[in-house]
Amino acid sequence: MDSRDVFIQGKNVALKALSEDDVTNSGWYGWFNDAETTQFMQQRYFPNTLQKQRKHFQDAILGAANKIQLGILPKGEKQIAGVISLDNIDFLNRKADISILIGERRFLGKGLGTEAITLLLGHAFGKLSLHKVGLGVLSGHTAAIRSYEKAGFVIEGILKDEILLDGKYHDVTRMGILAGDFKASL
Ligand SMILES: CC(C)(COP(=O)(O)OP(=O)(O)OC[C@H]1O[C@@H](n2cnc3c(N)ncnc32)[C@H](O)[C@@H]1OP(=O)(O)O)[C@@H](O)C(=O)NCCC(=O)NCCS
Repeated sequence: MDSRDVFIQGKNVALKALSEDDVTNSGWYGWFNDAETTQFMQQRYFPNTLQKQRKHFQDAILGAANKIQLGILPKGEKQIAGVISLDNIDFLNRKADISILIGERRFLGKGLGTEAITLLLGHAFGKLSLHKVGLGVLSGHTAAIRSYEKAGFVIEGILKDEILLDGKYHDVTRMGILAGDFKASL
């Protein structure tokens, strides 16, 4: 890991700029083929490959004007354990969506997800001057909802039967956090 890639330094994780090295040498593309990791995500319907991950890196990261995706690097580690993104950055309405995936299972449940979300919210509100960050999560995904609540998100509504997974419809919980509420919680 090249220390020049570190974009936001936290206590137990750094958020780093993603590089060709992450595409080739981390577990990144394989996380989307792991049935347990993707159990709440629709990415699991199509296999991921090194070539698709490289294309995603070129199109969605190098070429995107309204998306910031960063690698989640636990303290003392050489390879990323997950990725986190600000998607659909909308500078007219000053809002964006956030999404996160910790793909290396040994790093789950250690507080890294909550810290990574808090660091990226700091960037969204502090540097990008956004007013609101939102997200959608399957209503049964208690770990993710708990992690978002710990970072300050509140539930704004339930979208009924929004997602079809394995033949069963699932509700999606919409959550959001406003800049003022984030700053007040620091
Ligand atoms: C959602 C995700 C980012 C959470 O990150 P994490 O680092 O594991 O979560 P944290 O360690 O910060 O834990 C946050 C809270 O969730 C709770 N939690 C963690 N795993 C849990 C589980 N399996 N069931 C219930 N609660 C759980 C923790 O106990 C903690 O709450 P607490 O401090 O009150 O105990 C991670 O599970 C993940 O990446 N999952 C795979 C991809 C995914 O589903 N992404 C989200 C799509 S919306």
